[in-house]
Amino acid sequence: MSNVLSDDVLKSIGSWAEEVRSSTSWESQLKKADNRQEQVCQKLKLPFHPLECGKNRMVYDVGKRSVLKVAITRKGFQENEAERVMYQAAPEPLRKHLGEIQGSGDGWIIMKKYKRRMPESTGYIKKAAALKEAFLQAGIIAKDIVNKKGPRYKNLRLDKYDEIIVIDYGSFRWKEEETPVKD
Ligand SMILES: Nc1ncnc2c1ncn2[C@@H]1O[C@H](COP(=O)(O)OP(=O)(O)O)[C@@H](O)[C@H]1O
Ligand SMILES: [Mg+2]
Repeated sequence: MSNVLSDDVLKSIGSWAEEVRSSTSWESQLKKADNRQEQVCQKLKLPFHPLECGKNRMVYDVGKRSVLKVAITRKGFQENEAERVMYQAAPEPLRKHLGEIQGSGDGWIIMKKYKRRMPESTGYIKKAAALKEAFLQAGIIAKDIVNKKGPRYKNLRLDKYDEIIVIDYGSFRWKEEETPVKD
């Protein structure tokens, strides 16, 4: 799937990544901006329709079924990497609740696009809480599914089977003792 990105696009993202990593002023400039998306799009010129500028990643439409998430802060790099690793490492019954990662590279990931928002109904509120608990049982602290105020609707979507899908899981963490050991 990474081959949907042309060499030119990969080059643009590559030099952008260099800039984000090395600039000492960019992140404070971005923090102050009230037009974050414009600020990013002025600098990072990609031939895709901008979907939404998140806190740490700029998200573009790539074709009908995918989005491209490009890191716009140092934390954005970590979140992309965390999502890539978590998607691979999560146990099978839980992986299907994570936005499908279809490709990745330095500073970017491609994720399946999910348009259907999770309804604000009692049934789904319970399901979201149960999902957070299921991740915990598997040793994963699933921040950003539910907090004290309830489900984090921004991060939750439904797939075609009406299953909950988390689209922003860059902050999920393994409980220390459960971190899978790599040899
Ligand atoms: N897989 C996806 N499908 C559809 N929209 C998405 C997807 N991933 C992200 N988005 C949109 O882009 C926004 C920002 O993406 P997100 O991953 O939350 O970035 P950040 O880590 O910067 O918060 C989301 O709130 C959502 O509206
Ligand atoms: Mg987000």
